[in-house]
Amino acid sequence: MTKFKRTLVTTALPYANGPVHIGHLAGVYVPADIYVRYLRLKGEDVLLIGGSDEHGVPITLKARKEGITPQDVVDKYHAIIKDSFEKFGISFDIYSRTSNKVHYDTASQFFRTLYEKGEFIEKESEQYYDEEAKQFLADRYITGTCPHCHKEGAYGDQCESCGTSLNATDLINPKSTISGSVPRMRKTKHWYLPLDKHEPYLRQWILEGHKEWKSNVYGQCKSWIDQGLQPRAVSRDLDWGVPVPVDGADGKVLYVWFDAPIGYISATRELTDDWEKYWKDPETRLLHFIGKDNIVFHCIVFPSMLKAEGSYNLPDNVPANEFLNLEGDKISTSRNWAVWLHEYLEEFSGQQDVLRYVLTANAPETKDNDFTWKDFQARNNNELVAIFGNFVNRSMVLTDKYYGGKVPSPAEFNDFDRETLGSIEGIVKRTEEALENFKFREAVKEAMNLARLGNKYLADTEPWKLIKTDEARVATIMYVSLQITANLAILTEPFLPFTADKLRNMLNMGGADWSLCGKTEILKPGHIIAEASLLFQKIEDTTIQLQLDKLAASKKANEAEAKTAAPARENVSYDEFTKMDIRTGTILEAEKVAKTKKLLKLKIDTGIDQRTVVSGIAEYFQPEEIIGRQVSILVNLAPRNIKGIDSQGMILMAEDADGRLVFVSPSEKVKNGSEVK
Ligand code: MF3
Ligand code: ZN
Repeated sequence: MTKFKRTLVTTALPYANGPVHIGHLAGVYVPADIYVRYLRLKGEDVLLIGGSDEHGVPITLKARKEGITPQDVVDKYHAIIKDSFEKFGISFDIYSRTSNKVHYDTASQFFRTLYEKGEFIEKESEQYYDEEAKQFLADRYITGTCPHCHKEGAYGDQCESCGTSLNATDLINPKSTISGSVPRMRKTKHWYLPLDKHEPYLRQWILEGHKEWKSNVYGQCKSWIDQGLQPRAVSRDLDWGVPVPVDGADGKVLYVWFDAPIGYISATRELTDDWEKYWKDPETRLLHFIGKDNIVFHCIVFPSMLKAEGSYNLPDNVPANEFLNLEGDKISTSRNWAVWLHEYLEEFSGQQDVLRYVLTANAPETKDNDFTWKDFQARNNNELVAIFGNFVNRSMVLTDKYYGGKVPSPAEFNDFDRETLGSIEGIVKRTEEALENFKFREAVKEAMNLARLGNKYLADTEPWKLIKTDEARVATIMYVSLQITANLAILTEPFLPFTADKLRNMLNMGGADWSLCGKTEILKPGHIIAEASLLFQKIEDTTIQLQLDKLAASKKANEAEAKTAAPARENVSYDEFTKMDIRTGTILEAEKVAKTKKLLKLKIDTGIDQRTVVSGIAEYFQPEEIIGRQVSILVNLAPRNIKGIDSQGMILMAEDADGRLVFVSPSEKVKNGSEVK
């Protein structure tokens, strides 16, 4: 790390179309914060940059759905997201947003520079256009039948039924979600970044020059490069975003993935006039903390943009994480399958460090990982409470009891004392090494080993048994314990900043000074410590059960919604509709069809005649309870033979989310044979 004088750390800008959840925290913000806190403690020059990503089609869709403007959407979520990060102690030097003026200026200027240097290709292509709404349609704005699984309601970019990614042109019977009309193909012009042109450079720079990158990151880059890079459009036909700043680009904005990473630059500019030092001085180290779905943009696309511009540094490392799942399922904003940070902050008030700890100890660093509430509880109760909290509490309470809160002078150290004190430095070294290699799981485990060391030391030396007989020995034991405690108050700061702060206050230590870490005389004899209070509290089963119930409710709501929300089927003409002859009728008789579970045989007065209809409603209705009920019946359905019975027509039923059937009946009594139309 010696060739660098300073470090610029960026964190992926979360989309401001929803609040942030544990997946965000685990994958990006906690690791970045740990790293930056560590560097700051060592006195290094470092900036932590973040902000909200406020452009892109999903934000416009959400606005349309809620009948508000995209700016309203991002204002709302930006505030929630910013607040959550702050309360979790993510120590941003700035948390900005891409809808502000500095960003518009920076992004436009960046585009213009590339444009003037001839770094773009201009190309015309055909794209879907909605003639009623008079606008081009982003893929997400088009639905239709999936060409693979033939389910209706697939989106132009993806079928959510079978998961296939699509192009809008693949859809069968495409329909605009804005006007409902059938979109037409129309010519449009866009600007493309010729990634193919940068391929030789990228190959050299990453595959030869950055073999030290995490294998998941390196592997993804290699596979992209080996597949051959294509030019990528950096503009879109959309009315939300940074307008393309050249003539003849009316109605076009920069593609969200072009402007968002420039947001890192804008935010730095907003923070300091000295921003160029952090972006352009080759002695600055640039690091991007991201999730795995962002790798191609941060390792291939953005570096190509920076390279094309010419005056910027390229990232030195991109320590991307894999995904965090929740109770075995993929976290999903739209399905409300998440632990939302703003909710955690209310439900576990003051326990931010617990979540930080669990998410770090179980971070998805090399593979996808699962967050479970049981594991959360176990790590809190068995590790934070039973090891860390217990050790600190015993060491402080005993000091208070035996020495009135004054650090005693040690007598002679024995071998065990020396061995114990001697292991502190090794723990610190191993923690540092793990931190410097972005191995945060390992780092937090090492840091906890210090608390384990202390716990074991007290258990083995049992000062409470010696106090009557060997006070000098107890003085030494408490002295050693307190040095371990003081080390913990510094070493855990990057991981558990609230706890470490509280502990340093209890120890009257002042701020954390990393250079003291590993030392064995941090608290001098005679130093007065304050009263101990508990650092962690046990989490009860009932608390965990509440969270599990909440998730179960969310799962249930989803299942219901998934069914009720089936998109509309293909259009029929009015003539086709009127071919169906639907009448009101009354059930005269009803009986079970022998040897079937679902079927009832009904006799219906249709006003035209009395006829027999077989209906699959036996699981929901007893024959006797429906006699006399008015129903709607399709009377011109071709007769069918069902289980040996001639069925003449069909009773109309509504099926709710759980598959329950109810009659579609006239809301007041009408004459049998009335037409339903
Ligand atoms: N908003 C994107 C996401 O959540 C991340 C953008 S990162 C940036 O996946 F580089 F573009 F800022
Ligand atoms: Zn499909």
